[in-house]
Amino acid sequence: MHKNSRRGFMGKAFGAVAGIGAIGSLVAMKKTWDPLPSVKAAGFTTLDMTTYEENQLVTEKWRGKPIFVLKKSAEMVAKQTEEQKKRDIIVDGSHYMIAIGLCTHLGCIPAYNASEQGFLCACHGGQFDFTGEVTKVPPPRGFDIPPFKIYANTVVLGEAGPEYTNMKDTGVTL
Ligand code: FES
Repeated sequence: MHKNSRRGFMGKAFGAVAGIGAIGSLVAMKKTWDPLPSVKAAGFTTLDMTTYEENQLVTEKWRGKPIFVLKKSAEMVAKQTEEQKKRDIIVDGSHYMIAIGLCTHLGCIPAYNASEQGFLCACHGGQFDFTGEVTKVPPPRGFDIPPFKIYANTVVLGEAGPEYTNMKDTGVTL
């Protein structure tokens, strides 16, 4: 009897330990299956729009692609045509060009010349203005604009907000 109850106690204790171990293993396995936090966030890039200087190109990264961010000065905004204004991304009253920094010809990365306020693609001589529109072929169209959504002073790339959807619907970007 004494022996039996001891065996019963040992069995229960072992079962409890094994049970905890099994739960621990399941938790560990679930952690392995879940995507890492960095992977979950990989589709999105958040830009703090308060950090950019007028007419200074900054190249950010989104889904492995270079993203050009150019804050326009009041003088740049004033000289834009109606067509160019359609590409403007306005955050807290400031105007920006935000675009995928790849030439729409064959994908080279054009360089920005701040004094000329334009881009030159060294591969085949394509040129773009500071709004991202083509000024010299062979690029077939202006820089593509990534999906974006404006939240107060930030822009999240990878989310399609109403301003982006409107650009797509009106053919401003592909
Ligand atoms: S890749 Fe830019 S002009 Fe050809």
